[in-house]
Amino acid sequence: MDCIQIRGGTPLKGEVLIQGSKNAALPIMAACVLVPGITVLKNCPDISDVDCMCRILQCVGVKVKRQDDALLIDASKVDSWRLPEEYETRMRSSVILAGAMLGRCRKVCLHHPGGCVIGDRPIDMHIRALERLGVCFEQTQEGILGSAARLAGGRIDLPFPSVGATENVILAAVLAKGCTRITGCALEPEIAALCNFLNGAGARIKETGRGCLFIEGVERLRESCYRVESDRIVAGTYLMGALAAGGDVFLRNAQAGQLECVLQTARRMGAVIRTEKSGVRVVRGGRLTAPERIRTEVYPGFPTDLQSPMLVVLSQSQGECLLTETIFNGRLAVAEQLNRMGARIVVEGCNARTKGPRQLTGCCVHAGELRGGAALVLAGLCAQGNTEVYHRCFIDRGYEDIVRDLRSLGADIGVKT
Ligand code: EPZ
Repeated sequence: MDCIQIRGGTPLKGEVLIQGSKNAALPIMAACVLVPGITVLKNCPDISDVDCMCRILQCVGVKVKRQDDALLIDASKVDSWRLPEEYETRMRSSVILAGAMLGRCRKVCLHHPGGCVIGDRPIDMHIRALERLGVCFEQTQEGILGSAARLAGGRIDLPFPSVGATENVILAAVLAKGCTRITGCALEPEIAALCNFLNGAGARIKETGRGCLFIEGVERLRESCYRVESDRIVAGTYLMGALAAGGDVFLRNAQAGQLECVLQTARRMGAVIRTEKSGVRVVRGGRLTAPERIRTEVYPGFPTDLQSPMLVVLSQSQGECLLTETIFNGRLAVAEQLNRMGARIVVEGCNARTKGPRQLTGCCVHAGELRGGAALVLAGLCAQGNTEVYHRCFIDRGYEDIVRDLRSLGADIGVKT
């Protein structure tokens, strides 16, 4: 059954192991298309977006096999440059296969990617940047056809630090003829992870300044083995769970350095945060105090992916907060469901004005996208009575098993059969 049931009121206690990062694994899986051999990706999260990416890779001739927590990706042979629309439209990150397919086949036919409905999600920056490397795009009956007689290095100035556009350019440039200079790159840790993976496979990518990359094209990449880092957004989600429901939680493998802004905000609100090499400990005893302002920003600012979980924390915190979402123009939709549970969130455009604390009451709610769905589960942890979160499939796109993880922290949570 596609429904998660939570009985609220129990603080979270204990330790949870943080899974591998979805947003690091997906671009690295795309990068494997550039390797004419086998890549072993360890700690690859077992989530539906990874399954979807596996399907897309298999449709172009790549062999993929899961072995415990690792994926074995064999791109010795790539026999098609047509990406399967059926899978592409299920997730946004299918678009970063464009750069990889162009790097391998000099050709790609793609469709406008799908993914979470969290606002406009154009790909103009991807297209403009790839054109700078010699790619010609045209809209055809089949889809968006990209081709390049030869990929030649060039100079690219990204107008906005788009994560996906940065990844696409890197993937197209590593095998291009000559050198590529990119400025205005995204600074998210997933970009560094992609560069580390590619350099480990023989690419030549250097950081030449804040948001600036210099890529020297090479002839070919080699087989390698890479361990995917832990998921900073999953860690942040469970941290928010402890801030909202109260308790004492250790997030094993969470990397404090990737969550600086979030940890600072939590400390400012009154939580006790202890960072260690092996993870992050969060303790919330008494009532937290809401900060006056929170703005989501590109990294290293407050991550847009933790905005919805933060709305739940604010509903349990003393005072008012003006939260501004600056990255996606449709990412405050979950407020309506949270208000049905008793939160007080007034949304005006990309601003959400919250007032707390509020006693939430369990009811039936519907996930509409990945992080909003996770936020509804966190709200269930704080609510009086039972909450049923429908459309769990959205949450499973990015969380291996949110029920397993929160149950390991003592939550009264299960799946409605
Ligand atoms: C990545 O999405 C992540 N997804 C998102 O995580 C994350 O929220 C986002 O980066 C920002 O950090 C993956 O890595 C798979 P962007 P992406 O390109 O690459 C605009 C999650 O919950 N834009 O940095 O799509 C765009 O509309 C997901 O795990 C253009 O205008 O994000 C948005 O307003 C959700 N034109 C802004 O830039 C373009 O060509 C940021 O988008 C590209 C983007």
